[in-house]
Amino acid sequence: MHILVTGGAGYIGSHTCVALLEAGHEVTVLDNLCNSSAVALERVQEIAGKPLAFIHGDIRNPDDLDRALQGGADAVIHFAALKAVGESCEKPLAYFDNNIGGTIALLQAMERAGVRRLVFSSSATVYGEPDTVPVTEDAPLRATNPYGRTKLVMEQLIGDCCQAVPEMGAVLLRYFNPVGAHPSGRIGEDPAGIPNNLMPYIAQVAVGRRERLQVFGGDWPTPDGTGVRDYLHVMDLAEAHVRALEFGRDQAGARAINVGTGRGYSVLELVRAFEQASGKVVPYDVVGRRVGDVAELWAEPALAEALLGWRAQRGLATMCADAWRWQAGNPQGYDGP
Ligand SMILES: NC(=O)c1ccc[n+]([C@@H]2O[C@H](COP(=O)([O-])OP(=O)(O)OC[C@H]3O[C@@H](n4cnc5c(N)ncnc54)[C@H](O)[C@@H]3O)[C@@H](O)[C@H]2O)c1
Repeated sequence: MHILVTGGAGYIGSHTCVALLEAGHEVTVLDNLCNSSAVALERVQEIAGKPLAFIHGDIRNPDDLDRALQGGADAVIHFAALKAVGESCEKPLAYFDNNIGGTIALLQAMERAGVRRLVFSSSATVYGEPDTVPVTEDAPLRATNPYGRTKLVMEQLIGDCCQAVPEMGAVLLRYFNPVGAHPSGRIGEDPAGIPNNLMPYIAQVAVGRRERLQVFGGDWPTPDGTGVRDYLHVMDLAEAHVRALEFGRDQAGARAINVGTGRGYSVLELVRAFEQASGKVVPYDVVGRRVGDVAELWAEPALAEALLGWRAQRGLATMCADAWRWQAGNPQGYDGP
């Protein structure tokens, strides 16, 4: 298939491009590089040993979208979005414009081009503070911050379009906590500024870029008092997209599917596993809880197995070893020497 990947230069997008090329698909990436580097795409092609097409443009720009779809795409994988929860509280309009506005523009361009297949990057954030864990897809949906609201609204917009156009099909992948890197160490997570996510923060402390880790909350009702999340290797997540494309091929309507391992680890378990993988000490301070955080969140991944034939293959030690290989080989990320 020929796949348009919006946001394909980003963290999850770049790993998914490798998996798509390796599965024999043709790939066009549309990315404005607002949170990524074109170097990632050079490395994707180097790893896969195959070329991809890159359009430096914005999903809110109809001309850029038409150009990206003009080769006749069979499906779109839509990663492009702003994703920092804290920033979304400070600049909600920027998030509504980029994420929701961008998704509307994309759906309009797909309609113009007659493209009917979509795989969408949703998030476990749409469950807000869940009543029980593991979380199943039919759990109540609620947003607790503007970023989460954009994901929820985007899911609903896509669902409405699928209702209106019977031939349209969308797979809404609700990711839990993607971490790790490609085993080559050539691509990985390269956050701009202070990392919002735990694993890149730990990795930057281990490599000496930051002094200490702050652990938000040591008094959660969890076995060691720190928050518990469902960490998922980014290559497992990338492979879930390839499966979702195959599943979505003859599927009409919108289908939400959790992508997680079904097992939670605490912050301190992740720190210990990273120390083991890297041979480095990661000093940390336990500080107050962060507003909007939840004690524990992990997925019920049975639907992904039933519908996509997918289940996570890589464990915590591999996630940490691969993240460390990337960080140690690229201490300043893609912009480094
Ligand atoms: N990383 C996570 O923990 C996580 C968890 C759940 C869901 N998601 C979702 O997965 C998707 C990818 O996340 P990621 O971690 O790879 O983020 P990322 O920031 O690394 O990748 C997003 C990419 O989209 C591009 N982009 C943003 N706005 C754009 C626009 N208007 N036009 C063109 N390109 C644009 C950015 O330059 C970047 O390359 C996002 O939709 C995110 O909300 C991520």
